[in-house]
Amino acid sequence: MSRRLIIAANWKMNKTPAETAAFLEDFLPRFSGPCGVDVVIAPTFVCLPKAGEMLAGQTAVSLSAQNMSAESSGAFTGEISADMLKSVGVQYVILGHSERRSLYGETDAGINSKVKAALASGLLPILCVGETLEERDGGRIEEVLTTQLTGSLKGIDQSGIEKTVIAYEPVWAIGTGRTATPGQAQEAQAFVRKVLGDLYGAATAANVRIQYGGSAKPANAAELISQPDVDGFLVGGASLEAESFFGIVQAGIDASAT
Ligand code: PGA
Repeated sequence: MSRRLIIAANWKMNKTPAETAAFLEDFLPRFSGPCGVDVVIAPTFVCLPKAGEMLAGQTAVSLSAQNMSAESSGAFTGEISADMLKSVGVQYVILGHSERRSLYGETDAGINSKVKAALASGLLPILCVGETLEERDGGRIEEVLTTQLTGSLKGIDQSGIEKTVIAYEPVWAIGTGRTATPGQAQEAQAFVRKVLGDLYGAATAANVRIQYGGSAKPANAAELISQPDVDGFLVGGASLEAESFFGIVQAGIDASAT
């Protein structure tokens, strides 16, 4: 496989700095160096400095934020900029997660501004897309994914999309224990790649990494990652324990070795 797998932990609003440190003390010794898979953890903002310190000087695990502002500084109470994140060692940023879309009113246009700001600062976006159950049952998956991708990537050029990771996260599978079947994940992710092909050409689309997210766990990771368009995972619940998250990473290591 030419695309390097990327497996990211989205901790959402969980863990204190001390709990972050405890996780990393357990998790990091499991790696003897780069493992052939990009492994990323996304703690809350308040945990990023501690995680950044602990990850400095090693190459196995990278650091991500879960959100950021599209603005670079100024009167934006409660917000944080890309450069602030970079200053504590952050390399990736999750943008457009469905919880931010549904609970905090984020729109494709707003997410698009954030993707642009992240790329301009040198952060690598993990851009989330995915349909609700109602949209799936209504036969609107392709329409929803096309709208989200086209809107969130507006004005992003070829070099930008090649730095961007797409996370396909069907909303009905997030935190529900109801994982997409490998066939459902593959079908949707092949469609995501087709939309990227329409926007950037098939050769560029073939280089973009597309993660699956939604109740991914060690027990289903190997089968999901064997699908041709599943290039890794964005993991919520199963990423909170080092043992469980490493189980998913191990599935990626095994898949990339074959
Ligand atoms: P989950 O969350 O693995 O707990 O379903 C995934 C996500 O929201 O990124």
